[in-house]
Amino acid sequence: MAFLHIVGARPNFVKAAPVVAALDRRGAAQQVLHTGQHYDERMSAVFFRDLGLPRPDADLGVGSGSHAQQTAALMTGLEREFTERSPETVIVYGDVNSTVAAALTAAKLGIAVAHVEAGLRSFDRTMPEEVNRVVTDRLSDVCLATSADAVAHLADEGIAADRIHLVGNPMIDTLTANLDRFDAEALRARHGLPASYVAATLHRPANVDDPEAVAALVAAVHGVADRIDVVMPVHPRGRAAFDAAGLGGHPRVHLLEPLGYIDFVALVRGAAAVVTDSGGVQEETTILGVPCLTLRPNTERPVTITHGTNRLVSREELAELPALVAKAASGEPVNGAPAGAVPPLWDGAAGERIADVLSPAQGR
Ligand code: UD1
Ligand code: UDP
Repeated sequence: MAFLHIVGARPNFVKAAPVVAALDRRGAAQQVLHTGQHYDERMSAVFFRDLGLPRPDADLGVGSGSHAQQTAALMTGLEREFTERSPETVIVYGDVNSTVAAALTAAKLGIAVAHVEAGLRSFDRTMPEEVNRVVTDRLSDVCLATSADAVAHLADEGIAADRIHLVGNPMIDTLTANLDRFDAEALRARHGLPASYVAATLHRPANVDDPEAVAALVAAVHGVADRIDVVMPVHPRGRAAFDAAGLGGHPRVHLLEPLGYIDFVALVRGAAAVVTDSGGVQEETTILGVPCLTLRPNTERPVTITHGTNRLVSREELAELPALVAKAASGEPVNGAPAGAVPPLWDGAAGERIADVLSPAQGR
């Protein structure tokens, strides 16, 4: 078999869909392996349905655990699968634990690794994802980058130029391919939501694992809700902490279960602004033209600030969040980027360019 795609967590599915489809159009021999890092129906199965991804050829069912436990379980299961399936190339996505575990396991078995979304750097090693990015890129034979800054980071780290390919952003392929399906009005009707609202999503450990940080976030979100309704599909990681801190106690805060991809992007599309700490959501809001306030001190996706609708809001600035959201919702620009700018190659054709790199002989 030529290609084995490794997916495990929510953002992986969104990135893999256009790559699987592009390789399929070339008749490439490929399989999809689900690690089971995310396993709830709303964190996993709904994405396969929404995105028309093929049923995984295997599901390792590794589930949750500490970083070491989860990574060890991933590597043990992946080693068995790689040995049995003998892929020529393992394709890994983004920066989750499934990504780094697959890259490390494949590299040790002498199997080529291709990393989709290579080279992103927050330069913040307190983020588990930053460790995953650095290690995965170091081990990858093919680094597929979404933006020029990512290419520069890889070059700075000594990765040979012939391993680096600027291909654009497959997450945006998925977004543009599904634009007709994002119906905010229908979603609002189904969930009884108001016409004007801010969409919020928060799940980074730095925000949701520390009770002090959670209390500060709840106060900030309640401040926003004093002015405009807030709709928040809650990631399982933050659920208990946000409940304990009384997030849902404000009458204009609407907490939902995690949404499937089509419903979630519909929610974002219809929002006056978005408050998030998600990586992918910074990118999607950039293309949808929805103002995005990112509750983090840094981002590995700076093009969403220079070419998009994103602005960082640090912990020290949290008290200003209600005013920043109100301004953004009233149409004031959140940053100095030209209106309507789109990062280069975020054009819906990244999957094809990735297939060009990985499977050039088979043509289109
Ligand atoms: C993971 C990724 C993160 C990514 C996020 C996308 C790592 C280190 N982190 O974070 O980069 O942004 O996915 O959503 O890989 N849980 C459930 N049901 C599920 C999955 C998780 O209840 O289907 C709960 C469990 O309590 C689990 C916790 O969420 O312990 C965290 O899950 P985990 O996959 O370890 O990390 P995420 O925070 O989801
Ligand atoms: N997303 C979703 N439902 C939700 C929240 C997010 O479908 O309730 C989508 C979002 O549109 C994006 C992806 O999940 O495509 C991002 O995943 P997440 O924020 O969990 O991870 P990150 O990008 O931060 O790694």
